[in-house]
Amino acid sequence: MKVLVVGSGGREHVVCWKLSQEPKVTELYCAPGNGGIASIAKCVDIKATEVDKIVEFAKTEKFDLVFIAPEDPLSLGLADKLEVEGIRCFGPKANAAIIEASKAFSKSLMKKYNIPTAKYEIFDDEAKALEYLETQPMPIVIKCDGLALGKGVIIAQTLAEAKQAVKDMMGDQKFGSAGSTVVIEECMVGPELTILSFSDGNTAVPMISSRDHKRVFDHDEGLNTGGMGAVTPGADMTDELKVRIQNEIITPTVEALKAEGRPFKGVIYFGLMLTSEGPKVVEYNCRFGDPEVQAILPLLETSFMDVIDAVIDGKLDQLDIKWKDKCSCVVVMASGGYPESYKKGYEISGIDTCGKLVFQAGTALKDGKIVTNGGRVLCVYDEGDTLDEAIDGAYEGVKKISFQDAHYRTDIGRTLG
Ligand code: AMP
Ligand code: GLY
Repeated sequence: MKVLVVGSGGREHVVCWKLSQEPKVTELYCAPGNGGIASIAKCVDIKATEVDKIVEFAKTEKFDLVFIAPEDPLSLGLADKLEVEGIRCFGPKANAAIIEASKAFSKSLMKKYNIPTAKYEIFDDEAKALEYLETQPMPIVIKCDGLALGKGVIIAQTLAEAKQAVKDMMGDQKFGSAGSTVVIEECMVGPELTILSFSDGNTAVPMISSRDHKRVFDHDEGLNTGGMGAVTPGADMTDELKVRIQNEIITPTVEALKAEGRPFKGVIYFGLMLTSEGPKVVEYNCRFGDPEVQAILPLLETSFMDVIDAVIDGKLDQLDIKWKDKCSCVVVMASGGYPESYKKGYEISGIDTCGKLVFQAGTALKDGKIVTNGGRVLCVYDEGDTLDEAIDGAYEGVKKISFQDAHYRTDIGRTLG
């Protein structure tokens, strides 16, 4: 089988790594890939958002499967375009990927189908949004409707901060057109949990749970990032909690999308908060979480290709997906300054000799050497019988890798945020 993976981060590295172990996969390509992916797949210089170029490339090269990992090409309709050309692909069509592309859509879907989430209102008029804020208790959460690289969410502690957030998003268009519409919602309290779930349009099968650490500094301080590390399991998953999440959130979401004529084939990311009233949805994404999936996929025992086939062919109900009975941890090493400005091009040493699995994200090959080329540079993985073992193992690896201005959190898996 000839397979093309679309994307360039740590998530795409773990997907390529897993696919490279599949006996059926004889040729593996990645567009555009990164310095680490280049050692296991042929990297092609096409950006993930250049959907027409990807379709053309997939047609000429006669790929048997295209695996779309990031949200942008999905919401730009890459899966739809590949289907028109008769090319098999993993990832939802644009009308289902909208669960991530529009928070207003997701919130309305949850309201219509009674899926638990924070109470909210949607505004496309700045004056009305500002007026509404006057009537609400603080803290409050202001979100851009559209895709904003995980940055379009402000948790405002005071009315002044809340008003400023609305002005930044709607008036000054700080997040471009993503902020023309905003969602203003109740601030929920509780530990967060990520549940990634395979969905074939009818059946949804959750993977093992995970927990992401979004803030850039220890003790959950500093700016929000794409994620500084993750562990699995993400919480003490009692049977009662599992059943509630499946019956109140996962199944109703997949059924709601189907009922709306938007069957979802791919991975649904459920960002949840475990509130005193029970689990509630914070956000949906239309893809694997990064770095959550780097902690999850190495534990998959069932053939990844069998899972992919079951998702595409609508046969998830016939597959018993098995996981290693282990805990795991990934620690992200980032460029100093991330998520704001940072320098690139620093040589990285220790990746091959640290003795752990390393999934690369913002790296490039330059004159035969791996150099930094992005904010989140790489993540180090380890697993163990206990979470402590997995965490200690991942940090052992981190200590053996170095590059100038490297930054990482020292408390991944040890705190709730
Ligand atoms: P989102 O992009 O919607 O996942 O939001 C990013 C982060 O903001 C989440 O991971 C939460 O930590 C926080 N957040 C979002 N919505 C809420 C909410 N309604 N209440 C409390 N925290 C929230
Ligand atoms: N780690 C958060 C995300 O992938 O959206």
